[in-house]
Amino acid sequence: MKRILVTGARGQIGSELITKLRGVYGNDNIIATDIRTAEGELKEGPFEILDVTDEKRIFEIAKKHQVDTIMHLAALLSATAEKMPKIAWDINMGGLVNTLEVARELKLQFFTPSSIGAFGPSTPKVQTPQDTLQRPTTMYGVNKVAGELLCDYYYERFGVDTRGVRFPGLISYVAPPGGGTTDYAVEIYYEAIKQKAYTSYIAEGTYMDMMYMPDALEAIVQLMEADSTKLVHRNAFNISAISAEPMDFAKAIQNHIPEFEIAFNVDPVRQRIADSWPDSIDSSAAEAEWGFKAKYDINSMTKEMLEKIAEKIK
Ligand SMILES: NC(=O)c1ccc[n+]([C@@H]2O[C@H](COP(=O)([O-])OP(=O)(O)OC[C@H]3O[C@@H](n4cnc5c(N)ncnc54)[C@H](O)[C@@H]3O)[C@@H](O)[C@H]2O)c1
Repeated sequence: MKRILVTGARGQIGSELITKLRGVYGNDNIIATDIRTAEGELKEGPFEILDVTDEKRIFEIAKKHQVDTIMHLAALLSATAEKMPKIAWDINMGGLVNTLEVARELKLQFFTPSSIGAFGPSTPKVQTPQDTLQRPTTMYGVNKVAGELLCDYYYERFGVDTRGVRFPGLISYVAPPGGGTTDYAVEIYYEAIKQKAYTSYIAEGTYMDMMYMPDALEAIVQLMEADSTKLVHRNAFNISAISAEPMDFAKAIQNHIPEFEIAFNVDPVRQRIADSWPDSIDSSAAEAEWGFKAKYDINSMTKEMLEKIAEKIK
């Protein structure tokens, strides 16, 4: 039985991951933590305030709750990190090394997500391979590549059971996205319901990888349960479900709301980040090593997103 400490649990992923993990491993075995106070479903089980830049407190909470796993989600995302790069370095790298140290000292299993942001303009753009050139040009990307290497290092050097994926842009209706470059792909659904129109800050024709949240959550559980001896890559598995540009979302929405209109007002900061990322990534290593398979495509995801958001804001 797992007992899991989750950092950054109030974020876009954490808010739903906590519910999923409590369903799989039992309410009392999932310790949600965040620098912000608990809200909503997070209050229905153990919760602690935790700043991941405070290693002593991470240690104390892990010890107090006798956890055997850390899932480390606390981070500043790509667009936010570009606005405050030094703070992003301190939280993203400081938080990661602190949680890895606690995992080493207490012999815990460890998960943290990397991102498609770990790639850069010189990376092959189409069907980006698992092992390839990684020279990102954003602070977030620098943090993610360094983080992938650091997780590999803690496994090789200290035997910590580190595992991770490179998430694409995640699409969900429960918690709002936290300042990433793919946030438009969530906003577009809310605006489709509210206004029947959306102005995209990402330009027409800009492809990026995306995934619906239930597939992302299932991937985390599946990877953490996978047979360790079958994992060749361990950290930073490419995983993706959808490669899409803004017009693909508009067309999928028009199947349900025919009068929906899309316009463009490009934000140069986020467009520059998007242009440096792959159009599509190759998930075959994750499929071969631990059986990753996404269930949702853009059409099944769009149907569900529109239904759930309509219910939520009615
Ligand atoms: N959401 C995506 O599309 C996506 C894609 C790729 C990778 N990821 C990665 O997944 C992880 C989680 O992403 P998310 O979308 O849930 O992010 P988010 O921004 O929605 O949530 C991050 C959470 O971390 C908390 N936090 C910030 N600073 C903290 C600190 N010092 N100590 C403790 N908590 C702190 C915030 O309060 C927030 O609740 C990150 O590592 C992110 O890079 C996310």
